[in-house]
Amino acid sequence: MGMKKNTNSYSGRGFSDRKWVLPFFASVLISITLSMAAVFWLYSSSYGADQLQFDIISFARPEDSTGYFVESDLKSSFDTVREKEAPRLAYLISGTKGDSQRMMRTLQAVYHPRNQYILHMDLEAPPRERLNLSMSVKKDPTFREVENVRVMEQSNLVTYKGPTMIACTLQAIALLLKESLNWDWFINLSASDYPLMTQDDLLHVFSNLSRNLNFIEHTQLRGWKLNQRAKPIVIDPALYLSKKSDIAITTQRRSLPTSFKLFTGSAWVVLSRSFVEYCIWGWDNLPRTILMYYTNFISSPEGYFHTVICNTEEFRHTAIGHDLHYIAWDNPPKQHPRALTIKDFDRMVNSSAPFARKFAKDDPVLDKIDKELLGQTNRFAPGAWCVGSSDSGADPCSVRGNDSVFRPGPGAKRLQVLMDELLAEEFRSKQCSA
Ligand SMILES: *[C@@H]1O[C@H](CO)[C@@H](O)[C@H](O)[C@H]1NC(C)=O
Ligand SMILES: *[C@@H]1O[C@H](CO)[C@@H](O)[C@H](O)[C@H]1NC(C)=O
Ligand SMILES: *[C@@H]1O[C@H](CO)[C@@H](O)[C@H](O)[C@H]1NC(C)=O
Ligand SMILES: *[C@@H]1O[C@H](CO)[C@@H](O)[C@H](O)[C@H]1NC(C)=O
Ligand SMILES: *[C@@H]1O[C@H](CO)[C@@H](O)[C@H](O)[C@H]1NC(C)=O
Repeated sequence: MGMKKNTNSYSGRGFSDRKWVLPFFASVLISITLSMAAVFWLYSSSYGADQLQFDIISFARPEDSTGYFVESDLKSSFDTVREKEAPRLAYLISGTKGDSQRMMRTLQAVYHPRNQYILHMDLEAPPRERLNLSMSVKKDPTFREVENVRVMEQSNLVTYKGPTMIACTLQAIALLLKESLNWDWFINLSASDYPLMTQDDLLHVFSNLSRNLNFIEHTQLRGWKLNQRAKPIVIDPALYLSKKSDIAITTQRRSLPTSFKLFTGSAWVVLSRSFVEYCIWGWDNLPRTILMYYTNFISSPEGYFHTVICNTEEFRHTAIGHDLHYIAWDNPPKQHPRALTIKDFDRMVNSSAPFARKFAKDDPVLDKIDKELLGQTNRFAPGAWCVGSSDSGADPCSVRGNDSVFRPGPGAKRLQVLMDELLAEEFRSKQCSA
């Protein structure tokens, strides 16, 4: 009854109040005239049409305006481009319960004042240990002065092989992008990783590289492996629970993707700033779509960046198929790589890789690496930036010199040989293929 009354009064008012009729028709007439004029102008003037088309293209693909898509210059420039400034690296070092001292040790071995560092200790670690790590960073006089080491305040629950690992890596990259305008490559390490050469060696060799290169070991998923990896649907409980538990595998299976190809490889990556900006800022939808796809994919850290880079025309030529790590697997391979010991020392050095994993906490081989490869006698693996006196065991790095001067040693020679191999045409022709 009430409803009917309402309807009546509505229509009644519409018919009785005719003041709107004249302005309404006037405005309809004006808009028709305007849109006809616009259409006429667009189709009659080819300039207008070009302009419109150009705008649409540049909106969809901002390559020319921003220079993020660099593939076309890459081929010609990747051997020769030398930036004026020496490069800077941004490291993520992550760990879990019981890792705080190893994280500090790895941090000190890869420390250089030019670089940026972010430490993440996951939520499994007790608050006391996270506090200990933050305090150790805060107390260090060099870190305090240079302000390039930060501990992620927010601790995430991270599942090994789950999408929460990628979410955490992406968050760390986002923070590094926000906090520092000045870095060229992102490198992720864990507490059980250790360098095999000094930062001076690494920075010296990287000075000569195109800043667009990504070191990401990858192969296309095919055959039985594709079915085995891509069809199961997994759920990472760390996305919504506050206690750690294992990945859940559902009984449902899904079909293989047809709008992109799947790639897989090492979860250890060295990514260019332009590529991580592409992944984080998301002005192209592909990185986001693939991120959502990988939410239910087993071992997503071994596939996310690989699949994004190989399915993006502008970046696939920048993917160098090596993770710059020495990793030893059992034969046949088990789920985790073998722990490296003194026995592996020669092979590690011979690999020319800048990093190796994994090491047990305080394994004697780490002391050997410190002594023979890094020349570390004090807190840091020294470099040309350490200009203090080392008399009677003093720390030369307590006095900082010019951080864009490097003192490359034998490590740089090894890495240069590896780089020459990786950048050779023969190796690069295998990019993003099976
Ligand atoms: C962190 O813990 C270690 C060993 O438990 C201890 O030696 C060190 O002093 C602690 N650091 C801080 C800053 O509390
Ligand atoms: C980054 O490094 C960690 C080591 O803590 C590793 O487990 C992870 O899978 C890596 N990769 C990605 C893409 O997050
Ligand atoms: C870098 O390139 C220049 C010129 O191509 C070369 O002379 C120099 O030796 C290279 N440096 C390294 C570390 O490879
Ligand atoms: C080191 O590498 C060279 C060639 O790359 C090889 O001939 C040699 O046997 C290797 N040594 C060890 C200890 O692996
Ligand atoms: C540091 O060294 C670089 C390269 O040798 C040089 O260009 C720069 O001027 C130096 N900076 C300072 C403050 O001395």
